Amino acid sequence: MVFKKITAADIAFFQSIEGMKAVLTDNESLESCASDETEDLHYMPEVVVQAQTVAAISRLMAYCNEQLIPVTPRGAGTGLSGGALPVYGGVVLDMKAFDKIIHLDKRNLQVTTEPGVITQVLQDYVKEAGLFYPPDPASKGSCFIGGNVAENSGGPRAVKYGVVKDYVLNLEVVLPDGEVVWTGANVLKNATGYNLTQLMVGSEGTLGIITKIVLRLIPAVRHDVLMLVPFRQAVQACEAVNAIFMAGYTPSAMEFMERDALEWSMRYTQATGISLPDDIEAHLLIEVDGNDKDALYNDMEAIAAVVQHYDIGDVLFADTHEQKQMLWTLRRKVGEAVKSNSIYKEEDTVVPRAELPELLRIIKQLGREYGFQSVCYGHAGDGNLHVNIVKGSMSDEDWNTKLTEGIRKLFAEVVRLGGTLSGEHGIGLVQKDYMDIAFSNRQLQIMRSIKQVFDPIGILNPGKVFAD
Ligand code: LAC
Ligand code: ZN
Repeated sequence: MVFKKITAADIAFFQSIEGMKAVLTDNESLESCASDETEDLHYMPEVVVQAQTVAAISRLMAYCNEQLIPVTPRGAGTGLSGGALPVYGGVVLDMKAFDKIIHLDKRNLQVTTEPGVITQVLQDYVKEAGLFYPPDPASKGSCFIGGNVAENSGGPRAVKYGVVKDYVLNLEVVLPDGEVVWTGANVLKNATGYNLTQLMVGSEGTLGIITKIVLRLIPAVRHDVLMLVPFRQAVQACEAVNAIFMAGYTPSAMEFMERDALEWSMRYTQATGISLPDDIEAHLLIEVDGNDKDALYNDMEAIAAVVQHYDIGDVLFADTHEQKQMLWTLRRKVGEAVKSNSIYKEEDTVVPRAELPELLRIIKQLGREYGFQSVCYGHAGDGNLHVNIVKGSMSDEDWNTKLTEGIRKLFAEVVRLGGTLSGEHGIGLVQKDYMDIAFSNRQLQIMRSIKQVFDPIGILNPGKVFAD
């Protein structure tokens, strides 16, 4: 695809659109949209625009569609698969001015919001009304709800409450030709035609620009209890995850952290008050929540009894709000801590939960074979393991060639175990060359055809999801 380079006339047109808040071409603005949280990738846009109205986005899209100008939508830029990177230059459509929570429908437990609202802000807002929006990506304090929908994000609570797709009821979307459509209805059940809402969720900004989101909410949950369990063998921590579910318990979070993950995060956050004995290989951070405090303590004791069957160290029960905050901060900052430590590549592997111990064994085995060090952590209760491969002392050549082979092998093993390439970070730019491992030609062709229906010219977030 050969896109048109942006001219002064294009800029003048963007500036003339009513409801366009900003049209930015200064270096600082372009730089601020040239990267996201994905590795050290960098792609400069030609212009950054901030629209304030749906009509302005509609006019922008219609024009770019006609002129063959690529448009890359961008939320808060916290993505981990390069979804917001303008790989072909063109326009970055920065959604930060779409920052209003439009309507809280308390009678129906629903909220309608614009996409540029920070997830945590939305959660706090509905909490004031006694309601709960559970999906909680690690970056919830800075990511946008629109990006969460585009990526079908998860987070620790997904194990009990599900991921973003389980809360999205309806979406307003601007299509690449500028037409504005709603995808469904504000109802809890919907068996009416194809499910366009769910097609849009997780489509990584390649099918349309999300401008309004209707989310289902649930009543707020009053209490939670948290414990940190150290394991002398990391594989046993993975085995314990399944044992807890098999014993009949569903924690509201069940997070795995390899030793390095916790240690690096402790250093990064300058955490004190937690000890990490030399013989500990991994931890599980386990939370249960509910409205009946006694029942929660009973469940936690029962879970503690299950983990006693493994070779574990001293369990830390977080009693105070501060302790819980400290443990959750440690967990949420692992990604940033790894990033600050070394160049790395992040894989977002997911397997059926019971296969988690096998997945961990395979990762370590491949590391020995291909000479890489990996730091693993993530949502063990979902079988979703973030594998951070750190460059460390690897040569540039090994990093750029041999490692790709190792990652292909890892994904092949993941698929053999019944898993797939990404649990919650998306395919975007960095995983697109591996899609053939998870899908047949026919499956990929169906997906490409869907893209073609929505975006026949191919101007919307080009270079993502599908291999070139
Ligand atoms: C996390 C992000 C990386 O779980 O998904 O910390
Ligand atoms: Zn995660």
